Amino acid sequence: MLHAVSKLHPLARRVLAVFLVLLATASCGLGDLSIDEADPDSIPADPTYEGEVRPLMRYYCVACHAPSSQLGTAHDFDYSTYEGTKAGYGGILDTVFEQQSMPPGAARRMSPREEAIVKRWAEQGFKEKPTP
Ligand code: HEC
Repeated sequence: MLHAVSKLHPLARRVLAVFLVLLATASCGLGDLSIDEADPDSIPADPTYEGEVRPLMRYYCVACHAPSSQLGTAHDFDYSTYEGTKAGYGGILDTVFEQQSMPPGAARRMSPREEAIVKRWAEQGFKEKPTP
């Protein structure tokens, strides 16, 4: 087995390593809760892109959906900017809230609370920055 791994192309070995890390960091059970079960009081009243949404996109999506990522902007979704996230909100609705297919594989998913923050941000009109 070890011998077989060492014979793999270096890139294949890296892909295997990344896969194993993703597997090891698979989330632990939160995924069964629906967004509606997040405690409404724990969600910021007035979430903004700069304040709450950007860090979430950066953590969960930007590794694969940004011009700088190895995949480029996979399927033309760029979640590394305000405009891109706003324009790609339909994709978040679809793949994160409904199909629960993104991020793919065993990668950690957004918690119900995090999903509710993004949802409230959209419902309140995609505010970019906190009011000073
Ligand atoms: C590990 C890399 C990776 C991460 C992280 C990731 N994606 Fe993707 N995403 C992909 C790939 C690859 C595709 C193309 C899938 C296909 O062709 O089937 C894709 C496709 C999509 C699509 C196109 C629709 C579809 O189902 O094909 C949307 C929308 C999307 N991702 C949203 C997101 C969002 C939102 C996040 C963060 C919550 C995210 N992705 C995180 C790799 C990733």
